[in-house]
Amino acid sequence: MTGTERRGGDVTGYFTEQNSVETVNGRTGPNADPRLAHVMASLVRHLHNFVREVELTQDEWEIGIDFLTRTGQICTHERQEFILLSDTLGVSMLVDAINNRRTPPATENTVFGPFHVEGCPVRQMGDSICLDGKGETCLFAGRVTDLDGKPISGARIDVWSDNADGYYDVQQPGIQPQWNNRGVFVTGDDGQYSFVGIKPVSYPIPDDGPVGAMLAGLDRHPYRPAHMHYMVRAEGFQKLVTHTFVGGDKYLESDAVFGVKQTLVAPFTKLDGEKTEWRSDYDFVLMPARQKR
Ligand SMILES: [Fe+2]
Repeated sequence: MTGTERRGGDVTGYFTEQNSVETVNGRTGPNADPRLAHVMASLVRHLHNFVREVELTQDEWEIGIDFLTRTGQICTHERQEFILLSDTLGVSMLVDAINNRRTPPATENTVFGPFHVEGCPVRQMGDSICLDGKGETCLFAGRVTDLDGKPISGARIDVWSDNADGYYDVQQPGIQPQWNNRGVFVTGDDGQYSFVGIKPVSYPIPDDGPVGAMLAGLDRHPYRPAHMHYMVRAEGFQKLVTHTFVGGDKYLESDAVFGVKQTLVAPFTKLDGEKTEWRSDYDFVLMPARQKR
């Protein structure tokens, strides 16, 4: 019998450098959840091949264990360093891309990010979401439609952005007013939306922890290009989670979390001599809800 032969879901042989994948995966028993067994078998295969490919040293293994330990230890209710790690390695965007394949003219998804807060007050169309009075004011406007361009009534549009200093309200409790630069708007029969916010500014992701050290070690900057977050939900349609990005931002092609898509770069037009300083128009096109299997 070789080391990879199975007996009742177990492996009879010993672990060797050559048969490591088969030996570990061979331990999975017949009663394991099939999807979990499939995912873990692939994870083990890729992990072992990674270790083999780089010939990981004992010191490097210890650095890796320490890195993951510190990544967990810095997590709090407000700070999720593992999501940041996933984001900066492009994993979050890949999972989002696989799970939200869109065909034009549907609006593309991008990362949700860690700063959305459920329960924001519903505001009237045209209202301002900027409560701290900082930043350059900007009118955001457009329509929510289906794939045929028909307006969607009752679409709930959640919006949120950083303030002029580059921080979300939840990052500065007691400094920024609650719900600063956030709002929920519900479309009428014309599918139109409009609100006044600020022209968002680019900001660094939290970079004082292990993920920041990793970025520095890789000679990568921690900045995200300026963006406005949107989540659009409507009965009978797929949920859209996206941003619009400020055209011309210097970080558009080097977003620390890889969230930029060409179709999400929006025009921001300077308005001369008006109370509101900028205007950005963007239409959201929703896909019909998936059929339940
Ligand atoms: Fe953001």
